Amino acid sequence: MDECGSRIRRRVSLPKRNRPSLGCIFGAPTAAELEPGDEGKEEEEMVAENRRRKTAGVLPVEPDDSEVDMFGDYDSFTENSFIAQVDDLEQKYMQLPEHRKHATDFATENLCSESIKNKLSITTIGNLTELQTDKHTENQSGYEGVTIEPGADLLYDVPSSQPIYFENLQNSSNDLGDHSMKERDWKSSSHNTVNEEPPHNCIEQPQQNDESSSKVRTSSDMNRRKSIKDHLKNAMTGNAKAQTPIFSRSKQLKDTLVSEEINVAKKTIESSSNDLGPFYSLPSKVRDLYAQFKGIEKLYEWQHSCLTLNSVQERKNLIYSLPTSGGKTLVAEILMLQELLCCRKDVLMILPYVAIVQEKISGLSSFGIELGFFVEEYAGSKGRFPPTKRREKKSLYIATIEKGHSLVNSLIETGRIDSLGLVVVDELHMIGEGSRGATLEMTLAKILYTSKTTQIIGMSATLNNVEDLQKFLQAEYYTSQFRPVELKEYLKINDTIYEVDSKAENGMTFSRLLNYKYSDTLKKMDPDHLVALVTEVIPNYSCLVFCPSKKNCENVAEMICKFLSKEYLKHKEKEKCEVIKNLKNIGNGNLCPVLKRTIPFGVAYHHSGLTSDERKLLEEAYSTGVLCLFTCTSTLAAGVNLPARRVILRAPYVAKEFLKRNQYKQMIGRAGRAGIDTIGESILILQEKDKQQVLELITKPLENCYSHLVQEFTKGIQTLFLSLIGLKIATNLDDIYHFMNGTFFGVQQKVLLKEKSLWEITVESLRYLTEKGLLQKDTIYKSEEEVQYNFHITKLGRASFKGTIDLAYCDILYRDLKKGLEGLVLESLLHLIYLTTPYDLVSQCNPDWMIYFRQFSQLSPAEQNVAAILGVSESFIGKKASGQAIGKKVDKDIVNRLYLSFVLYTLLKETNIWTVSEKFNMPRGYIQNLLTGTASFSSCVLHFCEELEEFWVYRALLVELTKKLTYCVKAELIPLMEVTGVLEGRAKQLYSAGYKSLMHLANANPEVLVRTIDHLSRRQAKQIVSSAKMLLHEKAEALQEEVEELLRLPSDFPGAVASSTDKA
Ligand SMILES: Nc1ncnc2c1ncn2[C@@H]1O[C@H](COP(=O)(O)OP(=O)(O)OP(=O)(O)O)[C@@H](O)[C@H]1O
Ligand SMILES: [Mg+2]
Repeated sequence: MDECGSRIRRRVSLPKRNRPSLGCIFGAPTAAELEPGDEGKEEEEMVAENRRRKTAGVLPVEPDDSEVDMFGDYDSFTENSFIAQVDDLEQKYMQLPEHRKHATDFATENLCSESIKNKLSITTIGNLTELQTDKHTENQSGYEGVTIEPGADLLYDVPSSQPIYFENLQNSSNDLGDHSMKERDWKSSSHNTVNEEPPHNCIEQPQQNDESSSKVRTSSDMNRRKSIKDHLKNAMTGNAKAQTPIFSRSKQLKDTLVSEEINVAKKTIESSSNDLGPFYSLPSKVRDLYAQFKGIEKLYEWQHSCLTLNSVQERKNLIYSLPTSGGKTLVAEILMLQELLCCRKDVLMILPYVAIVQEKISGLSSFGIELGFFVEEYAGSKGRFPPTKRREKKSLYIATIEKGHSLVNSLIETGRIDSLGLVVVDELHMIGEGSRGATLEMTLAKILYTSKTTQIIGMSATLNNVEDLQKFLQAEYYTSQFRPVELKEYLKINDTIYEVDSKAENGMTFSRLLNYKYSDTLKKMDPDHLVALVTEVIPNYSCLVFCPSKKNCENVAEMICKFLSKEYLKHKEKEKCEVIKNLKNIGNGNLCPVLKRTIPFGVAYHHSGLTSDERKLLEEAYSTGVLCLFTCTSTLAAGVNLPARRVILRAPYVAKEFLKRNQYKQMIGRAGRAGIDTIGESILILQEKDKQQVLELITKPLENCYSHLVQEFTKGIQTLFLSLIGLKIATNLDDIYHFMNGTFFGVQQKVLLKEKSLWEITVESLRYLTEKGLLQKDTIYKSEEEVQYNFHITKLGRASFKGTIDLAYCDILYRDLKKGLEGLVLESLLHLIYLTTPYDLVSQCNPDWMIYFRQFSQLSPAEQNVAAILGVSESFIGKKASGQAIGKKVDKDIVNRLYLSFVLYTLLKETNIWTVSEKFNMPRGYIQNLLTGTASFSSCVLHFCEELEEFWVYRALLVELTKKLTYCVKAELIPLMEVTGVLEGRAKQLYSAGYKSLMHLANANPEVLVRTIDHLSRRQAKQIVSSAKMLLHEKAEALQEEVEELLRLPSDFPGAVASSTDKA
């Protein structure tokens, strides 16, 4: 607590003073007291991962995995003519006279129409990614310079667990280690696990919640109750009338079911104390879809309790918190479906990373197609602001934190915020993490302030100070300790394993001695006994090894493979060859030498140095058991569902920082995921010197989360105030102060910034923005004594706000663009690229001067002219390359920025990340990150220019540049890559097989795709087709909406009001 407070105190170095009088606040501006440039420095290392995720100084800049091929969740079951059928149905339905009166009925008609009866047969693979861009890291100790060939005959070095495993292997039949078998076995025995709840069905006859087992706190909003009841009643009647599609059931069964549903519905209406339909007021089809897509047959008891809480039914805001893998997502999804289908409102779901957004899009598109709602992606460069107004169907926006904020801004601006019925925030604890946390806080605070009807639901596994969050969100709280698969925690010190035991005096009890037989070489190479630990598990089960740095991941992967016996090579040999072939394919013939050595053993590293395509492919192979060991950074720590019987933490450090309890919990929480594993265990490896700190780590409570709104100065409070005034949410001092009282910071202000009042903070920030020329103050004299200070946004302020430019850079951006007007070199793209290279990546860039010089000397005269205009000369670079002293002072930021522009320029010309990576000696994941960051910043600069008349000339140029940067592929592939999860490699294959447009993909037959496209699984093919259908349908709907809008009589048409009144 104190630590956080002092951090803020250091950053916001406002002079201590009493509450200033209104008159003096804005009267005589003084130099800014807040330094915009120095926030973020203190916790650089600590939140390195987090910070690097947002590359540019703008909101929409996302992690580099925006193009991850996310088809890993389930099969789709739509048929080719689906869109035509849905359209027909819609047309028919539109003609029904009652249609407009009973919007809910439309949903159920549509839901249950014969035309969309599915043909699916499905399974789920909880396949997942997440990404972060962590910094290229320093070498960690150990494992460097290992020269022994992998798989060399070192069997004498093999820990005893290996021979035991291979003995078993020989004794057993071929299916040992077969993942599908494994899965089947696990599933069939899953209800025997320790924590598994007894079977129960909470579906047909929902009970009143017994809240005794859970913790519910109240603070209420009763007025919503009535309307939601009505909605639910309507929906339920509709549901009851609706027919349940037959997946594989007989007609008789279907009829029985329908009549049962009608009876249940009737009874419920009659008794009317509990307005629930067949499946939590949803059609029973939803339940069937969950069974078919996700293999979820029944809800856990806590899920049922939570869904039937009175407070939830009354639409109060809710925070719920359960251990990792507790099944939190399902509750949120059911509530979202209720909102979309029963309440007929749009829903926003905010997720932390681009890859997780894409996974959700893939996972929910088929639900959307089946149930009649749109699933729209707001991540990376995707998303429309404001969103397309839909005629009938509702939209589920799935967004990253940054895009979610922009979306909410655009809805407020266009007066449509009330159309948003529900906002769900996953991993709510992220509100306490850096500028992303501040952005999330702003988003939620704006919703709370502007919409009385939007419900907010937040969930997390790692919350401590829930009261603060409850107060901020005016929310109820539900919690339970349920985890379907037991997670056992162990510590390893030397060769002893201890079990974490809260009842023991020092928090741990002796468990066992590690069973291993090490040669001297192995002892030296593997002092932590990693080989012994992993070989107790692999290859039959999966294992994640979290490492402190990227380099360490690679070293550990190689080291382990060097000591694995050759027998491991035989395990799933063919499949592993396929993985290598596929990797080579997506790398245009290139293959990472480390992966080339480790994959044959079933081992791979996983971190942000890989491209998103590579990561996706490796995750797919890991999920299906082809790979059995990932060495990874904390990039795989939150919210992901990958198999892991055992999670090993190689050291209690992330980069150089000691592990926090929240991080520890999230990492170990990847073990024993429900539906994938039946057991889970974690082993934290530690040295004696860290013992005391680790014992504290395993016993202390989770860290509190604190608001970063004020700490993240230009990306926090400054941005907030500018948008409050720009959007006219609050435009005078009192209202802005009132708004601040309702923020998370407002709740915690006394803890976070003791020496300054909220009023002072508000006043100081407004003054800063005014001094910076982003706001203008208007003084209104209400009476002789009373003065009101109103604000309006200046042109520069609006441009910065619209472009979501980090206010630390808005001045320099303006200056750079202005200078560009004097002599923009348009003979090549270099100059334009320079102008859109994100400022905040520049400080992390350390040019390799030799490479810089080589690249420089290859420039054409026109390109060299760009450098000259920017003040960077060849002689300067030459001197740097040869280590000579530099006399003249040169702006380092410009030189570095130009270097990054060279990288991007080369990439746009060659479109091959591998060759550029080699040329500039940079990790390919970093280059991909740079590209996505620049694409995003380019679109921000475009919005900036749109608001400033003097920059009109840039507009057309930036539209095209943004497109080029976004896809960085040949133009013909762009339409295919619009489909969620279709990456360049796949797009190329599809294109050359004749699938040249979205329409081609939407009408493709998945079976034919599987036959004609190499390395494409049936599941992936079905997902591609269903995502393409969803996108096509969305586009068609948007066009229809546009047509209707064009043909509609304007509401303010002269005489229109009069004539309608006349008629009445
Ligand atoms: N009622 C259920 N029956 C069977 N499996 C379930 C049920 N509910 C959820 N699951 C499965 O449990 C797994 C974990 O669920 P989920 O991802 O929602 O966990 P979580 O609580 O969000 O965990 P984390 O905090 O780590 O993100 C998923 O694979 C999900 O499909
Ligand atoms: Mg989760």
